Amino acid sequence: MSIAPLDALPLETLRRRSSTKWRTFPEDVLPLFVAETDFPLAEPIRAVLAEAVEIGDTGYTPPDPGVRSAYVGFARRRFGWEIEPQRVSWTGDVMMGVVELLRATVTRGDRVVITPPVYPPFFFCIEEAGGVPQDVPLLASDDGWLLDLEGIETALADGARAVLLCNPHNPTGTAHAKESLAALAEIAARYGAVVISDEIHAPLAQPGSGFTPFLMASATAAEIGYAVTSASKAFNLAGLKCALIVTGADATTAVVRGLPREVEWRTGLFGAIAAVAAFDEASDAWLDSLLARLDENRMLLADLVAEHLPLARFAIPDAGFLAWIDLSAYGWGDDPARAILTGARVALHHGPEFGAGGAGYARLNFGCSPDVLREAVARIGALARA
Ligand SMILES: Cc1ncc(COP(=O)(O)O)c(C=O)c1O
Repeated sequence: MSIAPLDALPLETLRRRSSTKWRTFPEDVLPLFVAETDFPLAEPIRAVLAEAVEIGDTGYTPPDPGVRSAYVGFARRRFGWEIEPQRVSWTGDVMMGVVELLRATVTRGDRVVITPPVYPPFFFCIEEAGGVPQDVPLLASDDGWLLDLEGIETALADGARAVLLCNPHNPTGTAHAKESLAALAEIAARYGAVVISDEIHAPLAQPGSGFTPFLMASATAAEIGYAVTSASKAFNLAGLKCALIVTGADATTAVVRGLPREVEWRTGLFGAIAAVAAFDEASDAWLDSLLARLDENRMLLADLVAEHLPLARFAIPDAGFLAWIDLSAYGWGDDPARAILTGARVALHHGPEFGAGGAGYARLNFGCSPDVLREAVARIGALARA
């Protein structure tokens, strides 16, 4: 039985929101930049948050807010991943988790491999933790974007101490193949490096995309890896502040246990309450309908780009609601999002901010209604023809 795609909220409702997506640009701009989505909350989340507001449940997050058991169930149902509950911890958000893990695993001045083009805060969070980002760019291939395993090995052999992986990858939407992840784990283990895998987009891996949680890629990956994830992208909960750190071995679990107590204490209570509801089976149907919508939208985007921007190039993402589009053929310079904001009144994310390989690209958020997507690409197409 096919699943009915989730409908986005109408624009007039979205414009009443006060989040970054809706309060950065004037009303004539269609905002397809920051990674927020335009859908109504899943009903189980709406209900628990409404109850919390009703009774003024706005204090500190308790010692066991329930996210551990909720995520263990989610990972089993969605990925076939068996996690030992005591190996799940929580914190305020994914980037907080990444920074604290880096602080615990690398020494000031150590190099940390990243694979640009990549989520811009990766650069800053490595610096915040005292590390130095080392680029090993993704490789473009006919099969999409690939990890440059040789390049990563060279960097680790040369002294880099960690790899900050993005799986699925932002901005390309790539679910890295299990074999690549297993090979990455072997390389990291050979040089005594850790892999921190940002899996915030994992709940949005499309069925059949081949997404593999890093810690499931191999026994070695489970030994040396840390996964940091959240309900916040799939369920649009970024403002509520709850993320999870998952480990697969005693030594890595001990590192997480050794983090300052504040790391857990910073978890937002609304974030934890919402995450428990998000990861519960009761929200699976909503997530499936969101995935059906995003599947339709990624195909629609491919058609729209072919129609309105025939010189643009993009690989249909395996996961998530972000598309990484090569617009270099249009003469809009290194940062096409600038010309598009001014000339088409559509806000995209700036390609160069994603580091090496970002010039000439823009990132488009298709977590919206098909009508908004149609209008946005038509506006950009009109600018291209002007
Ligand atoms: C790959 C990736 N990591 C982390 C984040 C931010 O997560 P958080 O708000 O939990 O720090 C995002 C947000 O879009 C993201 O795409």
